[in-house]
Amino acid sequence: MTPRTTTVAVVGAGPAGLVLAHGLRRAGVEVAVHERLSRAELEATARAGVLEHRVVEHLRALGLADRLTAEGERHGRCEISCLGERVVVDYGALSGGVRHWVYPQQSLVRDLIAAYERDGGTIAFGSPVESVAPDGDGAVLLRTAAGGLRARYAVGCEGAHGVVAAAFPDGAAGPQRRYPYDWLTVLARIDRPVAAVRYAVHADGFAGMMPRTADVGRFYLEVPAGERVEDWAAGRIRAELVRRLDLGGGDPRPGELLETGVLRMRGRVAGRFRHGRLLLAGDAAHTVTPSGAKGLNSAVADAADLVGALLADLRGAGGAGDALDGYQQRRLEAAWRTQEFSDRLLELLHLPAGLPPEQREFALRLRLERIHRIARPGPEGAEFARAYAGAGELPVAGVWPPAQRTAVASRSTGR
Ligand code: PHB
Repeated sequence: MTPRTTTVAVVGAGPAGLVLAHGLRRAGVEVAVHERLSRAELEATARAGVLEHRVVEHLRALGLADRLTAEGERHGRCEISCLGERVVVDYGALSGGVRHWVYPQQSLVRDLIAAYERDGGTIAFGSPVESVAPDGDGAVLLRTAAGGLRARYAVGCEGAHGVVAAAFPDGAAGPQRRYPYDWLTVLARIDRPVAAVRYAVHADGFAGMMPRTADVGRFYLEVPAGERVEDWAAGRIRAELVRRLDLGGGDPRPGELLETGVLRMRGRVAGRFRHGRLLLAGDAAHTVTPSGAKGLNSAVADAADLVGALLADLRGAGGAGDALDGYQQRRLEAAWRTQEFSDRLLELLHLPAGLPPEQREFALRLRLERIHRIARPGPEGAEFARAYAGAGELPVAGVWPPAQRTAVASRSTGR
């Protein structure tokens, strides 16, 4: 059977794949999007929910944030508890007005799919790409259950261990770290909304309470690496959350547990995000722990940059390959900045592995000191606040999107 042809094959319809496909299609580039999951599965997968300022500004400029900004909430404060103190970090004020948006990732994905389809795009759901290989003339051949697809470029946006990365000569290997603990993840009904992200630095391990919607919250509990979720009954999870987070009368309480799991805590950055016309974006290029809520944000940022780089490459601007190498260089640097931010926050939120009980208070005091430092106005507070909330603009390649950029400036003072 003769393979279908397209210009850019996008593997994975998560936030990275959808933002990329959208940008390319809008610029008149032919795109084929393949997604392993069915549409219902994809739109029901609960994940992140905290979006950086600059990511939302970018989505706004593309007309992709209407529902997000109508239904999402702005958050500019988080709380970090340690040794019985609850310290408010008013990062909105410390950063000079930069705040997050809280909006569930699956809602954003649903909006992006709807927008893509409104523009006339189609997505092949339930259609995994089985393999990716070079096909002469620099083209790429993708094999799917529905037959072959010949593309000029293939972009892996399908998460870690994807087929596009597997087609790199070294499998897109790169430095990685397995942390000595895991996070039990819980999606739970709550009796009142989570007003601010709450981190608990606790002698028995970190706990977190994060906003999602008015009646659902995301909770985390540090557990030993390799822990099995089956060993945590609902009652034990709830009791441990209440204890470590010191949930009192005015706080939300986890009720029915809608979803539980264990997140293996690791960081990883592929050594290369590009091999010829094979490209990686989002989790396919790097894995960041949830600490700091950077995964979804950096996935959108990769895609936003890659749109401009691919357009430049297609137009032959600056000589073959330059634009795509530029993408790789900028996003590798960004990935390491993100890892460093996430890792530094992890260090604050966890006690060193194997610390004997009699030394824990000392370690907690050091952490409380640092919490106070980032909560205080001054250079350290401002630096943390700006990095945390994603100040500034996404550093996107080239001039894309040209017209909308001006529109952002005039609208960014709004809600
Ligand atoms: C989350 O919303 O899941 C979240 C938010 C902030 C973090 C980590 C996780 O630092």
